[in-house]
Amino acid sequence: MNINEAITGRRSVRDYTPTKIDDVAVRQLLEAAVHAPTAIHEESWAFVVVQDKSLLNRLSDHAKALLNSGAPIHPGGLSHASDHLVAPEFNAFYNATTLIVICAKLTGAFVSADCWLAAQNLMLAAYSQGLGTCVIGLAVSALNTPQWKKEIGIPEDMTAFVPIIVGVPAHPTPPVSRKPPNILSWK
Ligand SMILES: Cc1cc2nc3c(=O)[nH]c(=O)nc-3n(C[C@H](O)[C@H](O)[C@H](O)COP(=O)(O)O)c2cc1C
Repeated sequence: MNINEAITGRRSVRDYTPTKIDDVAVRQLLEAAVHAPTAIHEESWAFVVVQDKSLLNRLSDHAKALLNSGAPIHPGGLSHASDHLVAPEFNAFYNATTLIVICAKLTGAFVSADCWLAAQNLMLAAYSQGLGTCVIGLAVSALNTPQWKKEIGIPEDMTAFVPIIVGVPAHPTPPVSRKPPNILSWK
């Protein structure tokens, strides 16, 4: 797969088979992530991998409960509560078998940029390997609570920036259209 096929073909996948991703595949994704550009070469990212089904289910429930309570889905962000997202049968991780959380210490203005660039590398690499991914912004608030940091191994002084689910897609995901680039100026 060439890079343009990966960029245009990647989709957020929201339906997965129960197949677990093996350790080799997870490590390949993390390796792709750490090749992202990084401000002043700080490589500030760090990763937590969660594959324990009961942990994922409990975390999904907590994320939905926070949303239900009107908490913003991301610090400083807006709440996007909807009936669909808080329905009892809805799983915030779409029953994916793996959650990778990209975390960092907030040491500078571009730390979150590092994490998001790493996230895109990871998602494109996953797509090129036939795996599906989806950013789960809904889980950010729950992940940054002291309870969940402790439970899944995020140090207190780190922030969870990007939760990404990874799994084997249950079926192909149809293309999602994009608006053309909004070019404000070209002088
Ligand atoms: C910051 C961010 C947060 C997101 N949070 C969620 C989420 O909580 N749940 C979800 O299903 N998709 C989430 N998404 C995925 C977007 O809905 C998706 O990228 C968008 O609809 C475009 O579709 P595509 O990724 O297939 O191109 C998130 C994406 C980003 C960039």
